[in-house]
Amino acid sequence: MKNIVKMGDLTNEEVFQLIHRGLEIKNGKHVESRDDLYVANLFFENSTRTKHSFEIAEHKHKLKVINFEVATSSVNKGETLYDTCKTLEMLGCNLLVIRHSQNAYYEELKNLNIPILNGGDGSGEHPSQCLLDLMTMYEKFGTFENLNIIIAGDIKNSRVAKSNYRMLTRLGAKVRFVCPDIYKDETLGEVVDFDDVIGEVDVCMLLRVQHERHAEKMGLTKEEYHEQYGLTPQRYEKLKETAIVMHPAPVNRDVEIASELVEAPKSVIFEQMKNGMFMRQAMIEKIIKDNQL
Ligand code: CP
Repeated sequence: MKNIVKMGDLTNEEVFQLIHRGLEIKNGKHVESRDDLYVANLFFENSTRTKHSFEIAEHKHKLKVINFEVATSSVNKGETLYDTCKTLEMLGCNLLVIRHSQNAYYEELKNLNIPILNGGDGSGEHPSQCLLDLMTMYEKFGTFENLNIIIAGDIKNSRVAKSNYRMLTRLGAKVRFVCPDIYKDETLGEVVDFDDVIGEVDVCMLLRVQHERHAEKMGLTKEEYHEQYGLTPQRYEKLKETAIVMHPAPVNRDVEIASELVEAPKSVIFEQMKNGMFMRQAMIEKIIKDNQL
């Protein structure tokens, strides 16, 4: 099957096709109805944006959305991910959207005959978030060549940081990181001091401190984290006139970003969420076409 489970699955040409199609749909272009297709969204981790924007995108294409809830499914009787997905395939489901805490969970689903859109795998990748982030940057700048980008936060554990770093560097952007030592990932790019670079960046992308997983290891209070690694009003004032502030959300207000800046003029945080729905429509169209569903 042709899946979209990591950014490496897509060529640069396919990425630009998805961005252009997402923007076309945003601008009101017609989308095809496919009321003959069934889709199930399997979210083994919490989600507001990804789950519901995929759901709304599916409804916009008139797909029939199966109401799959992990909490009331036989997953709770010990059924494996593979068996759950195979069951949905055999019941006649045509497409799966999956979020799971296990990195690269999709490797164990290779023998399925049903395509998969990855809604996020552990600390692995988050391709639909990356694509909506690319769409939002492209909408603003019209190119990725030589864009100066910082990503600030828990780089090591962030699937958003990994997908974005790999794809943006492939597209010609310069991506650097701001993070506490414990959140560094030596396999990714250069780590810099926030205050040394804030005045020169085009994109300031903040990541959520994952309190539920890793915050206790940091050894910083929320206030200390905000002062050292967060977007404070003082740092915001130093941003270029044309710079944008991004965050995949959910936001920890006054930790990664001062609460008053979440909807500041340079913030595109809520625009990212809006773009997410259009990008997920473009992804659904692509997977239907690529697999001749
Ligand atoms: N950005 C993102 O993935 O948000 P959710 O966890 O709410 O889906």
